[in-house]
Amino acid sequence: MASVTSLSASVHQRLAAALQAALPESGAADPLLRRSDRADFQANGILALAKKAKANPRELAGRVTDAVPADDVIQEIEVSGPGFLNVTVTDRAITANLAARFADDGGRLGVPHAEHPGTTVIDYAQPNVAKEMHVGHLRSAVIGDAAVRLMEFTGETVVRRHHIGDWGTQFGMLIEYLIDHPHELDHQGGAADPAEGRTAMSNLNRLYKAARTLFDSDEDFKARARRRVVALQAGDPETRALWQRFVDESKLYFYSVFEKLDMEIRDPDVVGESGYNDMLDETCRILEESGVAVRSEGALCVFFDDVKGPDGNPTPLIVRKSDGGYGYAATDLSAIRDRVFGLKASTLLYVVDARQALHFKMVFETARRAGWLTDDVRAVQLAFGTVLGADGKPFKTREGETVRLEDLLDEAIDRATAVVREKDTLGQLSEEDISERGRQVGIGAVKYADLSTSASRDYKFDLDQMVSLHGDTSVYLQYAYARNRSILRKAGEAKPVAHPELTLEDAERALGLHLDQFGEAVTEAAKEYAPHKLTAYLYQLASHYTTFFDKCPVLKADTPEQVGNRLFLCEITAATLHQGMELLGIRTPERL
Ligand code: ARG
Repeated sequence: MASVTSLSASVHQRLAAALQAALPESGAADPLLRRSDRADFQANGILALAKKAKANPRELAGRVTDAVPADDVIQEIEVSGPGFLNVTVTDRAITANLAARFADDGGRLGVPHAEHPGTTVIDYAQPNVAKEMHVGHLRSAVIGDAAVRLMEFTGETVVRRHHIGDWGTQFGMLIEYLIDHPHELDHQGGAADPAEGRTAMSNLNRLYKAARTLFDSDEDFKARARRRVVALQAGDPETRALWQRFVDESKLYFYSVFEKLDMEIRDPDVVGESGYNDMLDETCRILEESGVAVRSEGALCVFFDDVKGPDGNPTPLIVRKSDGGYGYAATDLSAIRDRVFGLKASTLLYVVDARQALHFKMVFETARRAGWLTDDVRAVQLAFGTVLGADGKPFKTREGETVRLEDLLDEAIDRATAVVREKDTLGQLSEEDISERGRQVGIGAVKYADLSTSASRDYKFDLDQMVSLHGDTSVYLQYAYARNRSILRKAGEAKPVAHPELTLEDAERALGLHLDQFGEAVTEAAKEYAPHKLTAYLYQLASHYTTFFDKCPVLKADTPEQVGNRLFLCEITAATLHQGMELLGIRTPERL
């Protein structure tokens, strides 16, 4: 079945048509419809239009009202204040619309597909080889995963790219050190063993530190390391094989973290910096020949009028260094060519720390000048803010080191497990259940906290708040879902059945009208890459549901029809919560 037109969209259409009839010169003017506390909806657009047409707003509002046809959607329109329209829809329309959503055989709850879907290449979850992942990598992964889910749900073709940092001069010293200490990366077990990720990272950490110390203190080692970089870049097979060991070892670690995050990262989508090596020369040649890049002090650079250093001199984007080496920019420019011409992207989306905004601004502008980005292909940095500690400073351990991601996730899981255990007062859950729920609640809490503030903002990493049962947390939503499911289990013979003929209580109407807005919430969140708009919607949904549940007895309702209809409201709420959370990458356990 196709998508379901929401009541707000239906009312909007009717008012827009009536407006057009009442004031033909207004063109396709927007009645500016909003949800409202006074009625179901309020239209505020008449005032400005009346002013423009030099008409009396109340009188115009009256004419619009008269032009709205009476049908089974709109129950009442009243002119209020200086010329607002208060619109009340029928109970029948609310229930019938929800029934249509629930009957949507795609299980999509009537959510429409995007009108003009394209192909988005999304660059997210991009940690660095031989380095510990940090909270910034967590943000990129969590936000990126939600963006992928939202886009795919609305019909976009999505190609994932994990642009891992697997190239650079540091590999010279690492490889050289491994040659001297060939067993440093050895360990038992296989990729399936979760402990292997941790071992892998501690091996890499130890090796990295030791190599660094030697590099800084031993001239001979330093010289060897430099020669090794040249060999790596020249594609020397033995050197490449050793480099590959670092990549494989790091992937063991990355995958263990992503697995803990309950996130699917597929190997073919991991195309790191090294994946663009073969394109770098050509990228530079094209840029130089087209005059986009110029030589400056031996380096190949792109200049921008509006990018200047503190001394007032222009700061260029360096595409190739004076020693002939390529950096981060050359790789990103080559990746753009690959994504636009190879993968045929219509959108390039980068889920990367806001502190890299200048880099992307310069890279995108360069690509535009080169003609790789055009009106048909846009590039967007979905820039995210910094994760802060309790002290309001960038999140670090007390020793000032980066916080180990796994430790953080483990702690979230521990706390969540304690919450689940404590709530299970009747002792209904087995130990196994408790630990599984603990993982789902703990990881959900971390993801939700990250997704529920607008990505561009910084936020404080506060585990106590994240696993709180009260307030805007995933735990609150998960409990709302589980409670809901338990009612449906207890219903016994009574079945959820929509009864559009029934009169609704206020709490039922409020819940129903909010449920009916799910499509709009998803569409907006997907279009704007704004998962926080979906979390806000879901949080409100859970609040409406709680009120409904407090005010309206479900199984003890007056008539069997009312029981059925209320069970139906429970069921569609559950389905909406479940679908919404799934789009955020968060699990909804059936029992908690
Ligand atoms: N690996 C980089 C980092 O850890 C992020 C890569 C972002 N993506 C890109 N195409 N530059 O900061």
